[in-house]
Amino acid sequence: MAKDISGPYASAHELSLSDPSAFWGEAASAIDWSVDPTQVLDSSDAPFYRWFTDGRLNTCWNALDRHVAAGRGETTALIYDSPLTETSFTYTYARLRDEVATFAGALRGLGVGVGDRVLIYMPMVPEAVIAMLAVARLGAVHSVVFGGFASHELAIRIDDATPKVVLSASCGLEPGRVVEYMPLLDAALELAEHQPDAVVVLVRPQHVVDLGTRALDWREIVAAASPVECVPVAATDPLYVLYTSGTTGKPKGIVRDNGGHAVALAWSMRNIYDIGPGEVFWAASDIGWVVGHSYIVYGPLLVGATTVLYEGKPVGTPDAGAFWRVIAEHGVKAMFTAPTAFRVIRKTDPDALLLEGRDLSKFETLFLAGERLDPSTQDWATTTLGVPVVDHWWQTETGWAITANPRGLEPMATKSGSASVAMPGYDIVILDDHGNPVGRGREGNISLRLPLPPGTLPTLWNDDSRYVASYLADAEGFYATGDEGIIDDDGYVFVMGRTDDVINVAGHRLSTGSMEGVVAGHPAVAECAVIGVADPIKGQIPRAFVVLKAGVDLDPAVLESEIVADVRQRIGPVAALKSVVIVAGLPKTRSGKILRRTMRGIADGRDEATPNTIEDASVLEVMRPLLAPTTSG
Ligand code: COA
Ligand code: AMP
Repeated sequence: MAKDISGPYASAHELSLSDPSAFWGEAASAIDWSVDPTQVLDSSDAPFYRWFTDGRLNTCWNALDRHVAAGRGETTALIYDSPLTETSFTYTYARLRDEVATFAGALRGLGVGVGDRVLIYMPMVPEAVIAMLAVARLGAVHSVVFGGFASHELAIRIDDATPKVVLSASCGLEPGRVVEYMPLLDAALELAEHQPDAVVVLVRPQHVVDLGTRALDWREIVAAASPVECVPVAATDPLYVLYTSGTTGKPKGIVRDNGGHAVALAWSMRNIYDIGPGEVFWAASDIGWVVGHSYIVYGPLLVGATTVLYEGKPVGTPDAGAFWRVIAEHGVKAMFTAPTAFRVIRKTDPDALLLEGRDLSKFETLFLAGERLDPSTQDWATTTLGVPVVDHWWQTETGWAITANPRGLEPMATKSGSASVAMPGYDIVILDDHGNPVGRGREGNISLRLPLPPGTLPTLWNDDSRYVASYLADAEGFYATGDEGIIDDDGYVFVMGRTDDVINVAGHRLSTGSMEGVVAGHPAVAECAVIGVADPIKGQIPRAFVVLKAGVDLDPAVLESEIVADVRQRIGPVAALKSVVIVAGLPKTRSGKILRRTMRGIADGRDEATPNTIEDASVLEVMRPLLAPTTSG
């Protein structure tokens, strides 16, 4: 089980830490630069480290044009597979490049240039990918907002990113439900202070709307546009801003640069996922999440592979064995999704009868991330598929895996419950609450010694001080991941859970703080806490505990339905808050601070000793059964 310290993985990891410039300088040769970088790591403004500072490139060129220029224009770049619309078709690299170049021309016609932001609020349709790449082609900055967020969340992002143009569609599709985007977008623009110069809407046949004068028609502006060439930008210029949940209600705008991102993702495709030109990779996620950015769009295209854009769920109509069908039909070599998807499949078809008769001969590896992989799901997937099931751990901030099993570099043994070993550039140290290393086998805060490798966040959008306060303040010279865990004697990392108020619901990262903001706004609520409790399918789901204002007498069912509707309306359906429990009081310290960490510890089975500063221990005892897992599975 012990790793080979002289193997390719160990030497790559060792070199990446002892001589990062040598390691990443070599990795940079996989990318086409319009100006080669002469400096790999720039530490002159630490703790704001930058990579490839004087290099220039265009990410869209690297994802599309260079493959066409190399004579691979007829290779399939993207397979769109949409059981929800019962359509499936492909784009070659040449066709995707042409459509992206023309859409970039349309955006330029709307005034979009280098550094301008374009906000993309779209479902899983090829036009969304075309939009992302077109923005990159212009050297502009995209900010994709997940379709499961509602107006208020969208408005916050519009105000922070201040986009010149907003791109959207008439609808998204959920099983049995058409999600109308226009009312959500209209309401968001009403709420937002910033107003874009233009709104462009793709009218889908599933929901035809009359745009009137409030938005431009996607197809009309494309018909009037001419293709434009790629605009090289500095490696350190931003490619995108992706908002993610933090402890407070205000999301964090994670900045991704162009150069480090391209180098790191190209390295990861070959060395972690073992994917090269022409091979089919499928990330069953959504372009609204970091997995979608890195591994539906950029990663596979940067290495000339074929990516699958899937609009649907793991199971459901018309095909209950949807995942097996996609793997077989498109010859998928490696797939990446969240464990929750496999828990849904297992629940529906425990004996994998729907797998029978499918040709999965090209399928080599299943990669899972986004939440803790429970050993039972890992075992089931391994037995069912007969291929390695690789747990790997990362976050929106890093953009690619912190720990993984580098299947392309050196396949390593998997350990049940572990998200494998540190990837190049990541120096993982477990620290205690005072910032001291705890040593092997001891639990603590998983921290990364600076500098972080290429592709990781250089800062937060327009907020250097929040970047420092959120990530760098716990221990000097370290980035705090917000996760706690253990490193064992072999260097395998075990991620146990978050140390903050972030929860993971069906692989979606959400802030309980932002939900508390909505719950506290209900007129009957005096105070509240939202805690993630264990759920057999979604991993965690939020449960709200509320103390009513004195004298309020309200039917609990009515209160629950009102609060659930409020959260759905303000944050969006993805928040998945379904349960509201009225309690007489919340456990607090003597100074009146709600003991959220203690409640979280009880909820995820890592019960912490009750602090002797607690105001009233009996309140905590009342809470214990209320924090029990759900039984929805
Ligand atoms: N637009 C609008 N609504 C959306 C949405 C979107 N893009 N995505 C989800 N929702 C809605 C769902 O319809 C659901 O609404 P409901 O309360 O009316 O049923 C709600 O948000 C909660 O969604 P979710 O938590 O995803 O539950 P689900 O039952 O719809 O699906 C899974 C559960 C596990 C099948 C699904 O989350 C999944 O496939 N996850 C794995 C892949 C993944 O996306 N991972 C992310 C990072 S790798
Ligand atoms: P996101 O930013 O949405 O990718 O969410 C990142 C968070 O998800 C991490 O900080 C972890 O809490 C959790 N996470 C991601 N991958 C894993 C994993 N393999 N095991 C445990 N937790 C994970």
